[in-house]
Amino acid sequence: MINKVVRPEVRSMERPRHGGDVWDDLDVKDYSSNVNPLGPPPRLEQYIIEAASELHCYPDDSCARLKGSIASRYGVGADNVIVGAGSAELIRLFAEVFVSPGDRIVIPSPTFAEYGFGCRLMGARLVDHVLPCDQDFKLDVAELAGQLDGAKAVYVCNPNNPTSRMVGRRDLLDLVDEAARKRTLVFLDETLLELSSRSAELSLVPEVEGHENLFIIRSFTKAFAMPGLRVGYGFGPRKMLQYLEAGRLTWNLGTIEQRVATRLMEEEQEHVARAVRMLEDEKRRMHARAERLMGKVPMPDSYFFFAPLDALGVASAEFRQHMLRHGVLVRDCSSFGGVCSGYTRFCVKTPEKNDEFLDALSSAVDDIAEGRS
Ligand SMILES: Cc1ncc(COP(=O)(O)O)c(C=O)c1O
Repeated sequence: MINKVVRPEVRSMERPRHGGDVWDDLDVKDYSSNVNPLGPPPRLEQYIIEAASELHCYPDDSCARLKGSIASRYGVGADNVIVGAGSAELIRLFAEVFVSPGDRIVIPSPTFAEYGFGCRLMGARLVDHVLPCDQDFKLDVAELAGQLDGAKAVYVCNPNNPTSRMVGRRDLLDLVDEAARKRTLVFLDETLLELSSRSAELSLVPEVEGHENLFIIRSFTKAFAMPGLRVGYGFGPRKMLQYLEAGRLTWNLGTIEQRVATRLMEEEQEHVARAVRMLEDEKRRMHARAERLMGKVPMPDSYFFFAPLDALGVASAEFRQHMLRHGVLVRDCSSFGGVCSGYTRFCVKTPEKNDEFLDALSSAVDDIAEGRS
């Protein structure tokens, strides 16, 4: 009977897969998730303990203090800010509030799976904008804009997960303007931009109040290396946020999340800046050594690599197993679909950790060459 009453969209739904799956073995060194390689700020536990004294009260449903601290850091109004249990909640909320059954939604491919997941759940018709693998998966914004006729929304991830490609600010603004002419919403994911030295230069956050169709997400997860506490945030024009707030889950952020995130936003920006300074140099060093072991590896725009495996002659899932044998987790990219099963994704970390990664890579490459499995 349950098959007959479940919504048709849900009946055929498969959960998206992600990296970072190390819960059963915390000794595995995780290079599959792109979080701050310095780890969380040393005072994180202290902040959590201090916040725990307030657990006997319901959390502030409006998250006013946290929104205020995000707004002042980014120079926007508090009513241009929304917060969620991870930016994942905001991806879902956006689809719940704006996407209706049958809506045409344009999504570059490959990209982060949660956009399509949320829209499919709402009954949308998804249109893939396939990124060209022979041009390093660069997004041609004019071509994407050409697909917007009749589209309710278009998604852009900058830098893109998993390809590590960035889009310039001018190109993005042109897309937002063209989308506005076609009454299309633009969902821009900047969660991976925060750990980039180009974050301020490329971000569209200062533009939200002037663009009625633009919604942007960011997150504490990557910048502060705390995927286990769920805090993300979004920016949009006031009118759009009123609707998102109207549809949001009540008490979506607990007291610990609100208090801790407020302190991180106000007191721990130097921790993020330190990571950004380190990642740029380390990316270049790692690139040179990875190329020696893996053959041609495109230079990432961001702090994670999306590397083809054809020179090694193994598929993504198999390569992950080879690396795990040396205690290192990389992302099996096959769930991104298309050509991605021939690629792997791994992130840049501290110099010592990158050396550990490169040692494991060298051993795995030897294993593959000698047919050891
Ligand atoms: C591009 C991108 N956006 C959003 C998210 C969601 O992150 P969170 O919900 O932890 O903020 C992720 C997580 O991997 C991601 O890679």
